[in-house]
Amino acid sequence: MRFSFGSFFSNDVGVDLGTANTLVYVKGEGIVVNEPSIVALDRDRRKLVAVGAEAREMMGRTPENIVTVRPLKDGVIADFDVAEEMLRYFIRRAQRNRFLVRPRVVVCVPSGITEVEKRAVRDAAERAGAREVFLVAEPMAAAIGVGLPVNEPVGSMVIDIGGGTSEIAVISLSGVVTHVSERVGGDEMDQAIVQFMKKAHNLLIGERMAEQIKVQIGSAYPLEKELEMPVKGRDLIANIPKTVVVRSEEVREALQEPVNIIVNATRMALERTPPELSSDILDRGVIMTGGGSLLKGLDRRLREETGLPVSVMDDPLTCVARGAGKILENIEEYRKVLF
Ligand SMILES: Nc1ncnc2c1ncn2[C@@H]1O[C@H](COP(=O)(O)OP(=O)(O)OP(=O)(O)O)[C@@H](O)[C@H]1O
Ligand SMILES: [Mg+2]
Repeated sequence: MRFSFGSFFSNDVGVDLGTANTLVYVKGEGIVVNEPSIVALDRDRRKLVAVGAEAREMMGRTPENIVTVRPLKDGVIADFDVAEEMLRYFIRRAQRNRFLVRPRVVVCVPSGITEVEKRAVRDAAERAGAREVFLVAEPMAAAIGVGLPVNEPVGSMVIDIGGGTSEIAVISLSGVVTHVSERVGGDEMDQAIVQFMKKAHNLLIGERMAEQIKVQIGSAYPLEKELEMPVKGRDLIANIPKTVVVRSEEVREALQEPVNIIVNATRMALERTPPELSSDILDRGVIMTGGGSLLKGLDRRLREETGLPVSVMDDPLTCVARGAGKILENIEEYRKVLF
């Protein structure tokens, strides 16, 4: 018999522990948790008040006795205890009442992660209830998630733009051959918009408002039809609430710096790619995943800058978690991609 007692009762889970969102895939079921990576705690940090979407609603609106924490920053754990609590909460919820065996957990991590940061992820997952922890590089998981032939001797290029990190990786023969990681992503774009609103409009806005502006009218390439939207915030001079109409052209200007970092990182990754794999990439194209890939015109900008066919995958926010799921479902086939 090939299966062991453990795998028979298996409730293995895959976790995309992202800076912005955490997704949990349960073997045989699919993605069962998809929530913002945010925790609300009481002021002395002893009690969880809310986790995920509910905690997100509280951001910037908490009374003095509650704080909201985003335990990940730039793709890695920044607040260990809170990250562990959040993982425990999500894993428990994903398993519902199947407390048969402690799960094996596959966690997706940035390819630029250090040994110390890896250790922190392993420890947090173990303390959150994992029986065994396997790590996989996020761009690898994303590539598996969209069905690229990662085990074959052909080069595939993935650009994953998340909340905290942008990773560009070339994958071949179950390994990451070249990667460039920048600790710049959607969060940085939001910050750039907050700064811009202060400088250009004397308007103080929160992170969530900045994100809305980015999603609705943000872009990396001139739009066919430029857009505008009313933005509410606090006037920095009169100190009263105010509404300002913001145009997509100015937002694009504000986003230039983070966008340029992503463009340059892509160029750098291409420079470092061995020629045989470059020719594969030219033939097969480049795929974009992660929420940041939805920024309007970013694919077009990258296409023009690199001359390569670049395309955004369907449902880019779930590619990594779906990849983790495929790994769980076919652990033998993907053993080599785990570390
Ligand atoms: N339509 C959109 N346009 C621009 N940005 C978007 C859009 N939708 C989502 N985003 C951004 O995508 C980011 C979240 O993406 P994702 O969930 O892939 O990140 P993550 O995996 O949590 O982060 P990381 O991989 O860096 O740890 C957020 O910054 C969010 O604002
Ligand atoms: Mg991610």
